Amino acid sequence: MCPLMMKLGKMACVMKPTMIDWRNRPAKAKARQYLLSSTKRASKRSLWMPAAQCIDIELAFDLGILTRDSEIIAVESDPVIFQHMQRTLKQIARRKRLIHPPLAINDMLQNLRLNRCFDFAFIDLCGTCDQSILLWIERFLAPKLAQHADVAVTCTYATRRSKFFIGCREAFLDHWHELYLRYIVNHNYCMGSKLPYEPIIVPTLLLKCAFHIHDLILRQPFIYRDDYPMLAVKLCDIQTPSRLIYPAFSTVQAAIK
Ligand SMILES: C[S@@+](CC[C@H](N)C(=O)[O-])C[C@H]1O[C@@H](n2cnc3c(N)ncnc32)[C@H](O)[C@@H]1O
Repeated sequence: MCPLMMKLGKMACVMKPTMIDWRNRPAKAKARQYLLSSTKRASKRSLWMPAAQCIDIELAFDLGILTRDSEIIAVESDPVIFQHMQRTLKQIARRKRLIHPPLAINDMLQNLRLNRCFDFAFIDLCGTCDQSILLWIERFLAPKLAQHADVAVTCTYATRRSKFFIGCREAFLDHWHELYLRYIVNHNYCMGSKLPYEPIIVPTLLLKCAFHIHDLILRQPFIYRDDYPMLAVKLCDIQTPSRLIYPAFSTVQAAIK
């Protein structure tokens, strides 16, 4: 191989491709279908992370979640993808607002002066649902959800060796032991199951905590493999609770040693 080709080959290994072809991902297509097909009502205002191709938004139009009158808020942190997303959305959506700063920095939704809440949100992450995202959900997304809203989340599932995962599991076991066990039983995870259940329970339980101001139905997570093992989680029919059962995520975070 010539020196230039060798150099290019090396660069290809270290360079992170910004543009992913989401059409070429059959497992992702199944997860998208799983997450979106269970929402039956048309949305008035929804939040998306549709990337350049906006395939989830296309599917939502096909399924009737989005109509001509729906307002779409689309978020993208990567500047190149953002430009492509802008172009795609121009062709497929009429009422839209695009946001460039990443989720989790601060309340980037504040500038939109929302006078009505979201009735649907798809938080489609490429990586873990980390502390900053969970705090953002707790502080900024959860309070802006309408009654009966649905929320879909995807995140990586194999976090068993991460400090955060271990810390959260220990915090649950130390301080919310009974709640943790009840959660396992109520969601039919059992000790003998083939699937390692804790990497599913810890992130889903953390999501429950981030949305602790609401009652909601948590559907059985859909597990799929993209670049990493992933969880697709659907939280449905968000309502005002009669009493709060789960601790806030920030409380769990404070209990991590
Ligand atoms: C999994 S992809 C979206 C795929 C798309 N929803 C679909 O169904 O094909 C996630 C997109 O969100 C962007 N993203 C990831 N984390 C973000 C964050 N914290 N804030 C804003 N955008 C983010 C990524 O750059 C990526 O383009």
